[in-house]
Amino acid sequence: MYFCQNFSVMYRTHNCGELRLDDAGEKVTLSGWIQRSRDLGGMTFVDLRDRYGITQLVFNMDQDAALCQEARNLGREDVVRVEGIVRERSNKNKNLVTGDIEIEVQKIELLSKSALPPFTIEEETDGGDELRMKYRYLDLRREPLKKNLILRHRMAQEIRKYLDKEGFLEIETPALIRSTPEGARDFVVPSRLHKAQFYALPQSPQIFKQLLMIGGYDKYFQLAKCFRDEDLRADRQPEFTQVDCEMSFVEKEDVMRVFEGLIKYLLETIQGIHYKDEFPRMTYGEAMEKYGTDKPDIRFGMEIHDLTGEARGRGFRVFDTAGFIGGICVPGGAGYSRKQLDQLTDFVRRPQIGAGGMVYVKFLGDGSVKSSVDKFFDASDLMMWGERAGTCKGDLLLILSGEKQGTLFALSELRLEMGNRLDMRKEGVFAPLWVVDFPLLEWNEEEKRYQAMHHPFTSPLPEDLPLLKDHPEKVRANAYDLVINGVEIGGGSVRIHDTELQGRMLSLLGFTPEQAASQFGFLLEALRFGAPPHGGIALGFDRLVALFGGGESIRDYIAFPKNNAGRDMMADAPNFISQKQLNELHLRFRE
Ligand code: AMO
Repeated sequence: MYFCQNFSVMYRTHNCGELRLDDAGEKVTLSGWIQRSRDLGGMTFVDLRDRYGITQLVFNMDQDAALCQEARNLGREDVVRVEGIVRERSNKNKNLVTGDIEIEVQKIELLSKSALPPFTIEEETDGGDELRMKYRYLDLRREPLKKNLILRHRMAQEIRKYLDKEGFLEIETPALIRSTPEGARDFVVPSRLHKAQFYALPQSPQIFKQLLMIGGYDKYFQLAKCFRDEDLRADRQPEFTQVDCEMSFVEKEDVMRVFEGLIKYLLETIQGIHYKDEFPRMTYGEAMEKYGTDKPDIRFGMEIHDLTGEARGRGFRVFDTAGFIGGICVPGGAGYSRKQLDQLTDFVRRPQIGAGGMVYVKFLGDGSVKSSVDKFFDASDLMMWGERAGTCKGDLLLILSGEKQGTLFALSELRLEMGNRLDMRKEGVFAPLWVVDFPLLEWNEEEKRYQAMHHPFTSPLPEDLPLLKDHPEKVRANAYDLVINGVEIGGGSVRIHDTELQGRMLSLLGFTPEQAASQFGFLLEALRFGAPPHGGIALGFDRLVALFGGGESIRDYIAFPKNNAGRDMMADAPNFISQKQLNELHLRFRE
């Protein structure tokens, strides 16, 4: 039972998703929002909604005209309290869990009048994205968002349960830290007390969790808020949540075992899927070669085949000038029409995909071939490509060419597009994968220096250490990414726990000893005081929930997200601050 603040009004005996046929005859009190009302002859039917569901209220003109009129005066989203008797419905609604009953209302009380809502608050809404973001609290009343937030809650609880059982301690780390380069751009917060100095918001708790290991807390986790000022996409928010973890006295395998276990536990408890095999593993090199990406969706095959050797140097200029020629085999695609092929060409030519064009070869049922480059290659050449790519009669080979990295990327996007079109990326199927053996470093052409592929605290694979001095580009990282259905769900590594090696790493990344000391001094210092071997991982919690919920965008799984331009449409943030605040913060804007 629920009481209001003065403990005299009982707002509800039941919620709106609770009553069943067994309750018929019972006197009940419900409170909630008016979803919709219908007047049918002498009756008025009202759907009353709360977090738990919808219950039908019924008012009868013949029995109580005044009460019925009161109900008719109510508008959408008004908040009411009703008292009445549970009755069996003559016209049952199989789509509602409460659909066998209705409440014959005896008393109704308006608790709060609602303005006319700017969009319909139902399963399907007529509100556009921006409008729903502006009135997010109204959108949150809708069933799809409610379902998503409940899923998020359940997953958070299960994660806590699992990690607690594994002996992890949940420890919070600060949100106001110092700016340390970690990959993306920092959000910074000016200090009032310390003129011209700034805090930064953490891109992740990375350094703090390592310090917790040095502090002796050998198994740490946290559902941590992270902040990154980077370009946004459907799977990126400036402010997001990680399931952040760190462990001491562990090797890569130990961390992977625990977190593979966590994902299996979540699949079991949330999805009812018993995944008993070990997660497959793939090296970064293999992933790039076969799928053109370090986060392959392995729910389907359609791997990339390198045709450079076969197709280059035969007088077709586009191929002859290409650094890489690769193709994917579309099973049963030989029947594609001109229009379908043109659509695919338009797809790969989109600026965000970046291919110049697309070549196709159809392997027809009668054993002949038909291609957009018939003029340049004879049938035996085309058959050879087909053989290389493993095509069968009735298949379609799609080929892209150009600079290697870009072409692999475009092929990986084309592969996903084809997977979607052919319905090969099945909802409800989960295909986890560990990607390992990443390069430790990547070359930043703009800044003419190496940067850490993961972060500067990731240790090299022990067997590659001798290469660090002369061939840093060949050194592999002791790191691992967890990919599920083509989504990078998490990443982690075994860390450097040795001051000297950490210093060498920072110097490779172009930090002078002074810069290293100034930016990472406290970590370098801490490493001197007995740092245990340690490693960890962070899972993108928003992405994990969206994946489990089958959603396209993580925005739908966050109560109050930012839009694509990083704005909070509801609170209208970021926004200007007063001159007084600026003065206190010692800030002045240049003209
Ligand atoms: P990393 O930077 O790979 O690793 O982040 C871990 C996971 O966080 C998720 N993620 C995001 N989710 C939503 N919006 C974003 N902007 C965003 N950026 C990242 C991804 C990603 O895999 N400290 C290391 C972890 C470690 O080494 O232990 C880290 O933050 O799912």
